[in-house]
Amino acid sequence: MASSSQVGVAPIALDRVSVQLDGRSVLHDISVELTASTIAVIGANGSGKSTFARLLNGLIAPHSGAVRVHGYDTVHDRAAVRRLVGFVFTNPDAQILMPTPAEDLALSLRGRPKAEAAARVREALDTNGLGAHAGAAASTLSGGQKQMLALASVLIAQPRVIVADEPTTLLDLRNARRIGDLLLAQQAQAQVVVVTHDLDLAARCDTALLFDDGRIAASGEPARVIDAYRRSCA
Ligand SMILES: Nc1ncnc2c1ncn2[C@@H]1O[C@H](COP(=O)(O)OP(=O)(O)OP(=O)(O)O)[C@@H](O)[C@H]1O
Ligand SMILES: [Mg+2]
Repeated sequence: MASSSQVGVAPIALDRVSVQLDGRSVLHDISVELTASTIAVIGANGSGKSTFARLLNGLIAPHSGAVRVHGYDTVHDRAAVRRLVGFVFTNPDAQILMPTPAEDLALSLRGRPKAEAAARVREALDTNGLGAHAGAAASTLSGGQKQMLALASVLIAQPRVIVADEPTTLLDLRNARRIGDLLLAQQAQAQVVVVTHDLDLAARCDTALLFDDGRIAASGEPARVIDAYRRSCA
């Protein structure tokens, strides 16, 4: 297992990682260890943020180098990594698999005792403002409700690492704030990596990474990294 500099939070470690997609070099020789509880990933369109996020749960394999999450290699220990890492997509429609919120949440708990699963689904519905919509067609939920459901369906499985790729982009200010709050609240039990263009959300994280053209151009204290991003856009 990789070591951690923070009690209870094991790092994510990338060692000389390069990624090629369709023969194109997209990430270049990235080495980084992430020990903070909440990590913002920022940068321009096409800079490599989503590619980086997808490396963390093995959705994308490195062309060279290694990615380890809690000591597990994302290629060789793919099943363990999938259990450890919950991934939240930008578009909840890509993530909601079942006809109703209750069924979608229950899907994340398949294999658990029925009574326990039912109680946890009920609790998740209530705490996420979906109690009145438990049996409604998921397609009838609002965008904010769908994103709440998509996130709740990831959280209910209690992943040790949560990776969210622009989870607030499609939401209005109020729902973006709710999703941001809910994500950051997970730091008590999980490491949270959030790719975002919402620099207020990035500023609330413990640390930030700035991507530029497939490389990490700055990392560390969010205010400083955000400032570097703003200056690079000036
Ligand atoms: N399947 C693919 N084949 C070829 N190139 C790809 C593929 N997916 C992504 N890319 C390229 O990789 C680069 C990084 O893309 P990525 O989606 O990681 O960027 P991003 O920082 O998430 O951008 P955005 O802010 O627009 O979501 C881009 O130049 C993109 O065109
Ligand atoms: Mg992206």
